[in-house]
Amino acid sequence: MDLRHPIFARVWPRLRVRIDAEGFAERRRALLTGLSGRIIEVGAGDGANFAHYPPEVTGVLAVEPEPRLRGLARTAAQDAPVPVEVVAGVAEDLPADDAAFDAAVACHVLCSLRDEARAVSEMYRVVRPEGRLRFLGHVRSARPVVRRVERLADATIWPRLAAGCRLGRATLDSLEQAGFTLRCEDLVWFEFPEARFPTPGGQHVAGELRRP
Ligand SMILES: C[S@@+](CC[C@H](N)C(=O)[O-])C[C@H]1O[C@@H](n2cnc3c(N)ncnc32)[C@H](O)[C@@H]1O
Repeated sequence: MDLRHPIFARVWPRLRVRIDAEGFAERRRALLTGLSGRIIEVGAGDGANFAHYPPEVTGVLAVEPEPRLRGLARTAAQDAPVPVEVVAGVAEDLPADDAAFDAAVACHVLCSLRDEARAVSEMYRVVRPEGRLRFLGHVRSARPVVRRVERLADATIWPRLAAGCRLGRATLDSLEQAGFTLRCEDLVWFEFPEARFPTPGGQHVAGELRRP
């Protein structure tokens, strides 16, 4: 299934190169460290994570619904250090069998999903028992003033500018509701970009959850 966002698909790869150069590439590498076996990456974009998969990964199924980004991801897959297959599909209906993967990766994608709860249950379905979900993204700010701005942006122009992205999501709650187990020590909280004051969309969290 295709989800077309032609403007976003042209802007994101350039923006992505900039944020990676500003330190985000290191966050990607840390997100994927320690993974092994079969991985499903949801919403792979232009394939920015592919270069960071460790050699213990035996294969990646990368699902990307936006056709232009999918084409760029296929190009990136050719230089990846591990085998990567890029396919069309959406997180809410993953093209994969039950328990087929050792881990799922969702990087900068949960904020954009039309149906976050359904997508998270899909990731739960395709990861084997005792498998992992590695995720990274911005979540709603803990600061009331910033949160108010995020709510306003979500209700007005932001989702249209950023291909459905919402700044005010409580993503960790959805992940736990799907059945994943979360341990606080497996989470890293950070502001990105680093700024003197917290900014809307700046509160990020990265980490690992387990399927029991
Ligand atoms: C901000 S980009 C991040 C891309 C990539 N994960 C990265 O870290 O560079 C968000 C991505 O999520 C994808 N996306 C949006 N809705 C989706 C959905 N329902 N299912 C899967 N991917 C989706 C977009 O097409 C886009 O590639």
